[in-house]
Amino acid sequence: MAMAAVLMGLGGYLPPNVVSNEDLSATLDTSDEWISSRTGIRQRHRVTDGLSTRDLAIEAGARALKSAGHPAVGAVVVATTSPDRLCPAVAPEVADRLGLGTVAAFDLTSACSGFVYGLATAAGLIATGAADTVLFIGAEAFTTLVNPADRATAPIFGDGAGAVVLRRGDAAEPGALGPFDLGSDGARADLLAIPAGGSRQRSADGGPGQDTVATEDWYLRMLGRPLYTQAVERMTGSATAALGKAGWGVGDVDWFVGHQANVRILRAVAEELGLPEERMAVNIDRVGNTLAASIPLLLNDLAADGTLRPGARVLVSAFGAGLSWGSTVLEWPDLSVESLR
Ligand code: COA
Repeated sequence: MAMAAVLMGLGGYLPPNVVSNEDLSATLDTSDEWISSRTGIRQRHRVTDGLSTRDLAIEAGARALKSAGHPAVGAVVVATTSPDRLCPAVAPEVADRLGLGTVAAFDLTSACSGFVYGLATAAGLIATGAADTVLFIGAEAFTTLVNPADRATAPIFGDGAGAVVLRRGDAAEPGALGPFDLGSDGARADLLAIPAGGSRQRSADGGPGQDTVATEDWYLRMLGRPLYTQAVERMTGSATAALGKAGWGVGDVDWFVGHQANVRILRAVAEELGLPEERMAVNIDRVGNTLAASIPLLLNDLAADGTLRPGARVLVSAFGAGLSWGSTVLEWPDLSVESLR
């Protein structure tokens, strides 16, 4: 029997502060009509003062551990592009606060494809014997890095965290992660970037707060149009590759769980794949784009309301800054999952 990483627990957390499109329209030159028709987003959750990525990760992690029945955990991995600070990683502190002691713990950064990259990384930790069970969390307080005065980006992003527990198991079991397709295109790194805050602008320009670093450079910059085109092309290609590796046809997919960047992107990918829209899962209307937290938060919603039933065949696909993308498949296991509503 072939070894695989098997999903045994799932949890999520959304910070309580909800910002509607109407709320945004009070301070930005935008409207509910523009935001919802262009993106599908109606509201998003945002951290308020005192809450950071670490706090969201701890809440989601605790719920995933409860869902898994509190197993012994050998490693904690956090995927985030909005860590509490540049150094050290968030994961060791999350492990400590969850009472997991001195286990292996580290962060990984892959923006909106962070959850799929992290699943593959966690599966690798299990395959190498570094850990038998892994708590993997996608957590983001990314709205803290978005310019609140930029109408092109401020409506799109939201904060939250989603977590899974994976254990060593058998490839034929429900919950076993299937083959992965992962890819990147660094030649298009500028399509979604935060220029300052890292080694390049900070050391070359004398540090934060210096006149040579424009304030906007500390915020996200996004070229929406080319990103949209790339998202459709790369997610479609990656999903097709993962299906091919798994030996699944499009007709085998009960649920397409795609990264929630824009409902129009998801529709276009579903159409390219030849997947009926009824099998395309959506929760972007309530949470916006939560980067690495997007897919586990969506899985949490689908599992908690009974949409995802044991045995359902799930295609997971993500695309994000880097550029980077990734996909995998799994048959849904029998999990007990708490609702976030
Ligand atoms: N409210 C009102 N008008 C807005 C606006 C807002 N929030 N944001 C932009 N506009 C305006 C623009 O200024 C532009 O006006 P103009 O025609 O007078 O110049 C017009 O709306 C169209 O802007 P454009 O950026 O071309 O819109 P779009 O149809 O491409 O939609 C996105 C913008 C961001 C929704 C879309 O490009 C997208 O989703 N891209 C992918 C983003 C993404 O996925 N990012 C994360 C990657 S994981």
